[in-house]
Amino acid sequence: MASEKPLVAVTCTAPVNIAVIKYWGKRDEELILPINSSLSVTLHQDQLKTTTTAVISKDFTEDQIWLNGQKEDVGQPRIQACLREIRRLARKRRSTDDKDPPPLSLSYKVHVASVNNFPTAAGLASSAAGYACLAYALAQVYGVESDLSEVARQGSGSACRSLYGGFVEWQMGERADGKDSIARQVAPELHWPELRVLILVVSTEKKPTGSTAGMQTSVETSPLLKFRAEAVVPARMAEMTRCVKERDFQGFGQLTMKDSNQFHAICLDTFPPISYLNDISRRIIHLVNCFNTHHGQTKVAYTFDAGPNAVIFTLDNTVAEFVAAVRHSFPPESNGDKFLKGLPVRPALLSDELKAALGMDPTPGGIKYIIATQVGPGPQILEDPHAHLLGPDGLPKPAA
Ligand code: DP6
Repeated sequence: MASEKPLVAVTCTAPVNIAVIKYWGKRDEELILPINSSLSVTLHQDQLKTTTTAVISKDFTEDQIWLNGQKEDVGQPRIQACLREIRRLARKRRSTDDKDPPPLSLSYKVHVASVNNFPTAAGLASSAAGYACLAYALAQVYGVESDLSEVARQGSGSACRSLYGGFVEWQMGERADGKDSIARQVAPELHWPELRVLILVVSTEKKPTGSTAGMQTSVETSPLLKFRAEAVVPARMAEMTRCVKERDFQGFGQLTMKDSNQFHAICLDTFPPISYLNDISRRIIHLVNCFNTHHGQTKVAYTFDAGPNAVIFTLDNTVAEFVAAVRHSFPPESNGDKFLKGLPVRPALLSDELKAALGMDPTPGGIKYIIATQVGPGPQILEDPHAHLLGPDGLPKPAA
């Protein structure tokens, strides 16, 4: 049994998720309880993931954490909240399951190392993958088997949605203690195999206003946020669930774009206003609209989080043509060969009609690169001991 070993090490990976019905605003800052429910798509870990090793040992004298090779302050409130919650769940489990006293391992300190295979804080939801991975890895070493929503959520709200693959909803819940504010899978990873996701990376710089501070100001100042939470989101959650279940791309795409637009409208309704979109983001919106108008239907949809990068949803039979349209409108400045990362995309020629329909002057270098990916599974445990980021001494291996 894990609890009897002097040292337990586990390495896990967790995915990024992209919300199509956005979470923006908390009703409880401490417990991270949202003002509205949200729904997201889990992205494939072949392209974007966090890898985390957790090691517990009777010989460790303090909890320690390394992120992307750098030692971090383990005292940060959100890391502390995750550690406290997981130890509480572990104690609870023992006290209900066993008559024996709690195993010693519950008092062991933990060392954690975590790496992302994509730029941190580039608006690519790295905190979601990071805290989901932390919660998952801690649960393995401390032997917690219950739902981890409340652990991941207290790291970063959107992280609870990264605990599952496929399509995931975060039910806002009503209780003051947050027990019913949990993530649930709406449809599994393989439910909609034709769906593709393109991340158009406009900037890899750290965002000026983080989500946490941004949404706090929105809650305090935006009347639109209140209206959205009460009068708009409930019906949108139901409609988005239907679109996903029925694989209705037209409905899915349109609602995804409208919900992104409403989130950014709230940012502008916030005082002082917040703007995450830049000129390139707006040109991408224009490109998507021209592309859809040309085809007479919604073939691609955009969504933007707290940064200028666009996430595009489309179906496999449209990827090549849309990527050609992106290359036409945003000619890669250099490393043309590194412009496209992730899933292979075959080259396609644009018709003169479509070129004319895109109707704007090209912006060279506006998009740095594209990551092509798809819907993916939830967190995974890596069985290969070579995958551990920490050595048997509990310190980062040189490569970590
Ligand atoms: C725009 O989950 O990063 O990406 O709970 O304060 O950590 P905290 O915020 P965070 O907010 C994500 C906001 C969003 C929309 C979404 O993912 O639903």
